[in-house]
Amino acid sequence: MTSLLLAVLMLSASSAMPYVPVKHNNSTFQCPPTTCPDADTNHIKAAMQTFAHEFYTAKDVSGAFNTFVAEDYIQHNAGILSGREAAINSLGPLFGSAVNTFDVKRLTVGQDTDNNTMVIIHLEASNTSSNQTMKTDVVDMYRVVGTCIVEHWDVLQAEESNPENPLAYF
Ligand SMILES: *[C@@H]1O[C@H](CO)[C@@H](O)[C@H](O)[C@H]1NC(C)=O
Ligand SMILES: *[C@@H]1O[C@H](CO)[C@@H](O)[C@H](O)[C@H]1NC(C)=O
Ligand SMILES: *[C@@H]1O[C@H](CO)[C@@H](O)[C@H](O)[C@H]1NC(C)=O
Ligand SMILES: *[C@@H]1O[C@H](CO)[C@@H](O)[C@H](O)[C@H]1NC(C)=O
Ligand SMILES: *[C@@H]1O[C@H](CO)[C@@H](O)[C@H](O)[C@H]1NC(C)=O
Repeated sequence: MTSLLLAVLMLSASSAMPYVPVKHNNSTFQCPPTTCPDADTNHIKAAMQTFAHEFYTAKDVSGAFNTFVAEDYIQHNAGILSGREAAINSLGPLFGSAVNTFDVKRLTVGQDTDNNTMVIIHLEASNTSSNQTMKTDVVDMYRVVGTCIVEHWDVLQAEESNPENPLAYF
């Protein structure tokens, strides 16, 4: 117990960016018990790397969402209603399909000007059907309370096979 506390204190002390939590009514989002509302930046980074691995790489949508996403999280994707269950039902088939893969390029944890903690995951989605692979440049943005995801936005751009810019997309 003491060594755990010490480790947590050391993590806080070594964190480059102080975590200034916004006052949220935590109970309104129904965060899963596997999340920690007052996690510091390093803890949030580690949790979001685990979330990204489970969700995008391992494609375990329900496992990742039931561990890290609030039951009542707010959805801004135009094709999916708010709430964890709606997201799992909608994303399950997409991620479950063997033709689709998701390659995480970068993951950023930071704070916006209102001191909300934001997680930005930049990734490449690939869909291989017949002999063609269609690639999409995706930015998923999440607002978190500690290690709990409570809100989501995304922006998608279809990749061209021969873009003008050799540094395009990533
Ligand atoms: C939310 O949880 C954090 C961490 O446990 C706590 O410090 C904060 O007071 C809680 N907010 C409310 C409104 O209960
Ligand atoms: C937080 O939200 C819940 C559910 O809406 C409500 O029952 C509770 O009274 C609220 N707590 C505070 C401190 O505002
Ligand atoms: C993959 O792309 C093909 C061709 O655009 C499309 O018909 C199919 O629905 C996509 N598959 C998935 C699982 O998104
Ligand atoms: C964000 O946190 C900083 C440091 O505590 C504080 O000075 C600032 O007023 C906060 N901004 C908002 C919008 O709450
Ligand atoms: C895939 O490419 C091979 C070799 O070019 C070709 O023989 C085959 O017909 C193609 N399959 C489809 C479904 O387009």
